[in-house]
Amino acid sequence: MCGIFGYIGPSADKARASRLCLDGLKKLEYRGYDSAGIAGILDGKIQSSKQVGKVALLEELLERSKVPTGATVAHTRWATHGAPSTGNAHPHFDTDKSLAIVHNGIIENFQGLKNQFQNGPFKTDTDSEVIAHLISRAYSGDLLKAVKEAVELLEGSFALAVVHQDHPDEIIVCAHESPLAIGKGDDECFIASDAHAFKGQNLQVAFLSHGEMARCSRDHVQVFNSRGKALDKPFLSLNLKDEILSKNGFDHYMLKEIHEQPQTLQQALDGRYSDEFGTAQFEELKFSAQKVKRILILGCGTSWHAGLLGASLFESLARISSQAEIASEFRYTNPIIDQHTLVIAISQSGETADTLAAVREAKAKGAKVIGMCNVSHSTLTRESDHVVFLRAGQEVSVCSTKAFTSQLITLALLALYFARQRHMSKEDGQAFLAQLKNLPLKVRQVLAHSKAIEKVAIKYSSFEDFFYLGRQYMYPTSLEASLKLKEISYLNAIAYPAGEMKHGPIALVGPALAVVALCGNQQTKEKMLSNLMEVKARSSPILVFASEGETLFDAVATDIIYLPSICDELASIPYSVALQLFAYFVAVEKKTDIDQPRNLAKSVTVE
Ligand code: AGP
Repeated sequence: MCGIFGYIGPSADKARASRLCLDGLKKLEYRGYDSAGIAGILDGKIQSSKQVGKVALLEELLERSKVPTGATVAHTRWATHGAPSTGNAHPHFDTDKSLAIVHNGIIENFQGLKNQFQNGPFKTDTDSEVIAHLISRAYSGDLLKAVKEAVELLEGSFALAVVHQDHPDEIIVCAHESPLAIGKGDDECFIASDAHAFKGQNLQVAFLSHGEMARCSRDHVQVFNSRGKALDKPFLSLNLKDEILSKNGFDHYMLKEIHEQPQTLQQALDGRYSDEFGTAQFEELKFSAQKVKRILILGCGTSWHAGLLGASLFESLARISSQAEIASEFRYTNPIIDQHTLVIAISQSGETADTLAAVREAKAKGAKVIGMCNVSHSTLTRESDHVVFLRAGQEVSVCSTKAFTSQLITLALLALYFARQRHMSKEDGQAFLAQLKNLPLKVRQVLAHSKAIEKVAIKYSSFEDFFYLGRQYMYPTSLEASLKLKEISYLNAIAYPAGEMKHGPIALVGPALAVVALCGNQQTKEKMLSNLMEVKARSSPILVFASEGETLFDAVATDIIYLPSICDELASIPYSVALQLFAYFVAVEKKTDIDQPRNLAKSVTVE
């Protein structure tokens, strides 16, 4: 996992290569921010700098050190093999530092490859360093050939960029189940893990396909297939505008993104429904729901939580058998998929390696895939048969908030779309649509409760352990809410279906454990109350989130936050917003790095 960036251009402006690489790395920091490094060629030698921590720290270091001017590669890391340290930071080198490599991915057979080197030239704990030594061993004057020979020995996923002191005018790149984009400009060439790192540049862009390599120089890019045959790869203009990122006066991007949700929900709805027919409409989808006998939703983390809720919606509204699977588990289950199974792959970034691998497995078994994604030009959008965009706008905070609620509303629209093509009446469709259209307002009402939520968050921030309980739609909602707390406050938060407590977890209940109870579903509220009674009898404080006007939980609640009421199917959206605020305010008390929490990355690009 990590972000790769590279640049080769005219050498007149000595600082241009490093300036552009730093700028590119900052745009790739969502892929990891444990350490960063840069290497290029200066006076015929490899010149490098590495730093533990974020790209800003590398930038400071470069102000005090020599910067490369020729072909330059750079890297921002999320540690997989080896601790986050300067030594383990990329780029990595061969023994006499004649070449430098940056790598995104995992080399699964690195240990066996390392064993081939008798003299133990390795200076780092990484899987990546061996690549530099393999290329060096294969090198006899032709860098492309040496990289090709080395790559043939590698197992796993990788995107690579390589520079060599004997070739100051070229960068060799390759991609193997990891994305790599090449951007051609006016007498300059860029490479990056993600084309969005090219924002602000006017480039013609191509994406390497699995197994492809390229020799990049400032005025020419030649792409080759895995057999070394030169390809005529089309380069396209992507219209990537640079957005000025701003917190708009909020203390953190997370808080800003939480507050954007009335608007992002509206954007997800716009143009996607017909009041007259009481249905949803998706221009991007052209198939009949009649043929769909089963829906399989794939995703990881927050996107999987959205998938769980989506599966319930598809079953209850459209009566299509549906399940959500964790993408990283799915591909190892030899899944049963036939031509009537529709796969929906959910990913904010469109770059999550586990989700992409699951999509490839589903496609290999003949499934059609709808990619539900927030990022244009991402790998998922390129590999899916149909794409439905979330329209949430760029999500900067590692902790996903607005993308999640956009996933939910888009899934609810899709469920309505399928339901109306099957047995749902126009009147029922219109009633559900009315509730959907009400969501931006309901979320605005939740945001108006911020102060009350902050107050309870401060009170509960002294607890180390939390149980999040819910039933029905509120159970996946509690999974997501507890993930928010874990991610940004580093507190132990376990989500459980409330009815399961008595089968074991209740042993943990007591005054030192705080219970957060999500009581937003009408159908199960009496059952929820009984489960909370059992908790109260064992002295855990209970923070209840319930609908306005609901008095049922007064007897069990230590504290209670009332939220606007809405139908059971859609309650997850306003409740999630309230629980995002709760996690945020707890994390503020804990003084954590809210937008870039420890050990995490926005996009998880390794399996
Ligand atoms: C969300 O807060 C998390 N950071 C994480 O679980 C995330 O949802 C997961 O990694 C999947 O990402 P994706 O939606 O970009 O595929």
